[in-house]
Amino acid sequence: MTVDFDQYINREQTSCVKFDGRQQYFGTSDVLPLWVADMDFAVPECVTHALQTRINHPVFGYTLYPESLYQAVVDWFVRRHKWKIEREWIVFAPGVVPSLFAAVQAFTKEGEGVIVQSPVYFPFFSAVTTNHRTLFNNPLREVNGRYEIDFEHLEDCAKQGASLLLLCTPHNPVGRVWREDELLRLLDISRRYNLTILSDDIHCDLVYSGVTHTMLGRLSQPGDKIVTTVAPNKSFNIPGLGLSALIIPNLAERNAMKQVFERLHVGNYNPLSMVAFEAAYRDGDEWLDALMIYLEQTRDIAADFIARELPQIKLIKPEATYLLWLDCRALGLNDSALRDFFVKGCKLGMNPGSVFGEGGSGFMRMNIGCRRSVIMEALVSIRENIIHQS
Ligand SMILES: Cc1ncc(COP(=O)(O)O)c(C=O)c1O
Repeated sequence: MTVDFDQYINREQTSCVKFDGRQQYFGTSDVLPLWVADMDFAVPECVTHALQTRINHPVFGYTLYPESLYQAVVDWFVRRHKWKIEREWIVFAPGVVPSLFAAVQAFTKEGEGVIVQSPVYFPFFSAVTTNHRTLFNNPLREVNGRYEIDFEHLEDCAKQGASLLLLCTPHNPVGRVWREDELLRLLDISRRYNLTILSDDIHCDLVYSGVTHTMLGRLSQPGDKIVTTVAPNKSFNIPGLGLSALIIPNLAERNAMKQVFERLHVGNYNPLSMVAFEAAYRDGDEWLDALMIYLEQTRDIAADFIARELPQIKLIKPEATYLLWLDCRALGLNDSALRDFFVKGCKLGMNPGSVFGEGGSGFMRMNIGCRRSVIMEALVSIRENIIHQS
């Protein structure tokens, strides 16, 4: 399938956060938007077509999750991840972040400990703190430009009574795809300390060549307390539609998650979300494969440019996700000066690393889910501004 990912699509004035939220977030709209994790690409035709077909029916009443939607999830995980799941394990939820919050409520009491591994996508922290749980941080270890889990410290956290781990797999923002042996070690710790794991696999389909993502849930055995959350939102660029799926083999954990949502009477019964979700998982394979080829070329071109032209910046080359984690510490700027350098100097709107918690200071996160020419423009702008600065 050929898809023109270089096609220009004007997203301004669509109330989209990434473009129309720039003034609010950066204090100016005069920055290239390389922040919020959505892409500037048109969604696959199968998704547009499914939405159009649904819209042709002029009634948008209360809607059930159709069997075909469950089937699309079951088939996707067998086909793409060799994970055979049962239809009964699936629970639909409004989004992945709501499920992080729900898991904290379902599996811990106020004051109890929840483990996160920073630097990490910021709602992982707020899911714990806004629910008045105790945050146990197990910072990732940076070893020669690559991040690893600190298993000894993780075990200490569990020993000290933390009962839930919020796992990001693949990991945003550092782009690691956890290897099977690393996941097995996590499972071993979870079994020995009765730890529940919320496995956020939202980026599981955005994995580059030469790397295999293993679903933690696929490695689990009956009795393991694993809750997996997935969605086509990132992979197919439909996060605004806000529907995700939980995959929970164990009945107790499944009921606990359902109860949290039921208490708030929260579901997502939006018929448009459902048809887009189903079409993406049912018919989106070829588009997704083409997307990954495009993203990988952008990642590699950016990596070459950074290595050659930006000696002060080190790229932590991602194994997955369209997010580049840029180590800017050699620029010698504090976080506020670093942000000014990129916003005011380079005119780039990226996420400052400091928002991802301990270990994020001195880093920036660049979203490459856009036309390659935009990324080249951004990199050239950084080069010009580093020259001016020195
Ligand atoms: C790890 C991770 N989880 C969840 C989300 C957002 O999920 P949702 O929009 O479905 O709440 C993101 C978005 O960047 C993410 O990176």
